[in-house]
Amino acid sequence: TTYEHILVTREDRVGVITLNRPKALNALNNALMLEVVAAAQELDADRGIGAILVTGSEKAFAAGADIKEMQAQSYQDVYLSDWFGPWDSLAQVRTPLVAAVSGYALGGGCELAMLCDVLLASETAKFGQPEITLGVIPGIGGSQRLTRAIGKAKAMDLVLTGRTIGAEEADRSGLVSRVLPAEGFLEAAKAVATTIAGMSLPATYAAKEAVNRAFETTLSEGVRFERRTFHATFATDDRTEGMTAFVEKRAPEWRHG
Ligand code: HXC
Repeated sequence: TTYEHILVTREDRVGVITLNRPKALNALNNALMLEVVAAAQELDADRGIGAILVTGSEKAFAAGADIKEMQAQSYQDVYLSDWFGPWDSLAQVRTPLVAAVSGYALGGGCELAMLCDVLLASETAKFGQPEITLGVIPGIGGSQRLTRAIGKAKAMDLVLTGRTIGAEEADRSGLVSRVLPAEGFLEAAKAVATTIAGMSLPATYAAKEAVNRAFETTLSEGVRFERRTFHATFATDDRTEGMTAFVEKRAPEWRHG
């Protein structure tokens, strides 16, 4: 498949989606959104892919939804077309999504990063939800995912003032998984994705599903779900291989089944 606004490459078991509208600081227009969703779904369906890295440029992961595209839209337009609705499909992807954020991740850019499972920030990363400064509010899950990630006090601060925070504050607040040096950032982020992609695929799907369940249910139901899913891993060849390899003091050779 060829795309207009993104680049998609495969590096061994890692799929890489690079947002590629440099002149607009990777502003997320409708066409780009549909391309990201389609590419992620295609990679997700491929058993040879164990992690999907989502990244932008050095200057901008994404500076938000495309304000120029939104400017002329009416309420009827955005309601009837379910503006931003397709982004929800990314949350259904079972392959781990790793966001590699360098530079601006504002508005929809911050929301896209939060839709990913592991959020890697360069020292240069800047996060914010500046929608309020445009007379709107977050629309790709920001008010919900940011609040779950960093708590009410910090989320209210960011959503109501529109201020931008740097990598250090984002790390301290629990928004990001790790901060990595600006130099060699993309390679280091790919290495993290490669580590994830190097694990057993069924175990990885199960682990991601179990962690996500924590946001959807009570503690006792979540623990029950985890226990059943843990038991289910014993049905995989990879479980046998993983434990046998440990006992035999060798590296496991996953069959991803
Ligand atoms: C459309 C954008 C854009 C955006 C930048 N550009 N952000 N176009 N939508 N979100 C365009 C600029 O218009 C400009 O185009 C080019 O990219 C370069 O941007 P500059 O502003 O010249 O760069 P710089 O001075 O370095 O400033 C970078 C910046 C600033 C601080 C990130 O661009 C900025 O504040 N952008 C908007 C950030 C924002 O408010 N995001 C939230 C969007 S709302 P030209 O053609 O002039 O060269 C959102 C909504 C979600 O995400 C849901 C609710 C609706």
